Amino acid sequence: MDGRFPQTGLRHFVTQVEQACAEHGAKVRWHSDHWVAEVVADDRRFLVIGQVFPLNTASSAQVATDKVATAGLLADHGVPAVPHHLLRFATDRDPVGLTERLVGLPAVLKPHRESSGVDVLRARDAEEARAALELLAGRYRAIAVSPFLSIEDEFRLVVLDGEVLLVYRKVIAPGEWRHNLKFGARPELDVSPDRAEVLTALALEAMRALELRFASVDIAWVDGRPLVLEINSGVSLEHFSQAGPHHRELAAEVYRAAIRACLDLTA
Ligand SMILES: Nc1ncnc2c1ncn2[C@@H]1O[C@H](COP(=O)(O)OP(=O)(O)O)[C@@H](O)[C@H]1O
Ligand SMILES: [Mg+2]
Repeated sequence: MDGRFPQTGLRHFVTQVEQACAEHGAKVRWHSDHWVAEVVADDRRFLVIGQVFPLNTASSAQVATDKVATAGLLADHGVPAVPHHLLRFATDRDPVGLTERLVGLPAVLKPHRESSGVDVLRARDAEEARAALELLAGRYRAIAVSPFLSIEDEFRLVVLDGEVLLVYRKVIAPGEWRHNLKFGARPELDVSPDRAEVLTALALEAMRALELRFASVDIAWVDGRPLVLEINSGVSLEHFSQAGPHHRELAAEVYRAAIRACLDLTA
């Protein structure tokens, strides 16, 4: 294996972190095939794993990782969000009936923990629900159940300490219904100022509700209004960076800001 290039697929991320550290006089040593970064500066040492920086508390990060916990907390705080209900296969004996009672059909069934599009399934009728639930029951102990919403646009906002560092729109691939970049969605930077303002206000509310410092907030635009879809406390811009040099530079700026925050540097 070529030691320069990570098998983990975080090729751009590795370069971006190395550059940011070099700019701040910090040294970075990679471990576990570039999955773990050990950053050492004069008076500081911290670890980065995957794309997780030591900026959030472990409990806030865990809440963000759990789509059901996130949706419940946001709803309780009056932050508009896509509902996500927990379905446990061990105790919920009639998962099709429960799905119909919880959200009706069509529904979206997915792992309740971070999945990057994996096993996010749409059930348009009871037969599709049965097939999807059977598949998910073989793989997960519990899942999240949501009403299927007609998403006009999906946006990602990266936030650090109450400031939005990056906003982009995910333009869906033809024939696909999920906005994951790994399913061919394209990251577009053409977000109108009006929309950016509304999205920013919502993303900051969501960050406050979860007590997060650094995260990406995904917001779906449904029936003319924004709803928080999910929050990731590991900020992933790898697919985003593949869109070209300008995108790469924007992602580099995000990670530069995160490294500065980890080093307790301001300005
Ligand atoms: N309730 C829903 N209604 C419509 N589409 C949805 C719904 N939930 C998820 N999706 C679609 O599936 C994609 C992936 O779901 P998401 O909740 O973001 O999970 P992941 O962590 O896998 O990205 C979203 O980008 C969106 O396009
Ligand atoms: Mg997503």
